[in-house]
Amino acid sequence: MKYILYILAIALAVFTYTVFQSQQSLQSVQTDANQHSAFAGSDIGGPFKLVTHTGITVDENDFSKQFKLIYFGFTYCPSICPTELQKMAEAYDALPTKIQKDLQMLFITVDPERDTVPVMKEYVALFHPNLIGLTGSVEQVSEAMDNFRVYAAKVPSETGKSDDYLVDHSSFLYLMSPKNKILDVFKVDTSSEEMREKIERIYHSY
Ligand code: NI
Repeated sequence: MKYILYILAIALAVFTYTVFQSQQSLQSVQTDANQHSAFAGSDIGGPFKLVTHTGITVDENDFSKQFKLIYFGFTYCPSICPTELQKMAEAYDALPTKIQKDLQMLFITVDPERDTVPVMKEYVALFHPNLIGLTGSVEQVSEAMDNFRVYAAKVPSETGKSDDYLVDHSSFLYLMSPKNKILDVFKVDTSSEEMREKIERIYHSY
């Protein structure tokens, strides 16, 4: 009799645990779905006034006829930025010509002190002839970063020199509509093929 009670108690415990676990995973799936759909219609993005890698001052209205793919990073970034810019260029190249014409790739620096116009010019050329690099004063750049909720913080190197540092920063690719509304956000784990597919789908349903 005692045995049976033991077994029942264990079975009940296992059952309760399983139910608890499946509810937890269901909850996290729902949270993910909410977060994903929350991008569209959220207030990520906003006005900016910056300088292109050819030295022209522009704002968000200069790109109001096009969709935008926007990435924030810095040219001295050892790994994430080059990878993400490469991925953006790959996705862009895989798009039909018509969509390419309606889509502008922008790279906004989070490190305007070192990423001057000539530095940006040299850097964007490494990735794509249609990629526009944007820099500006520290104030201009931080306004753009705030509007896109971009996080960035200098990490000093061991040399202790003031111009020797890395920048720890958030890494998202923002897909913006011609009216500068956020349409989607691509993360580091989004492949270029996934990006291309989503951009095409969003473009055709816009
Ligand atoms: Ni980076």
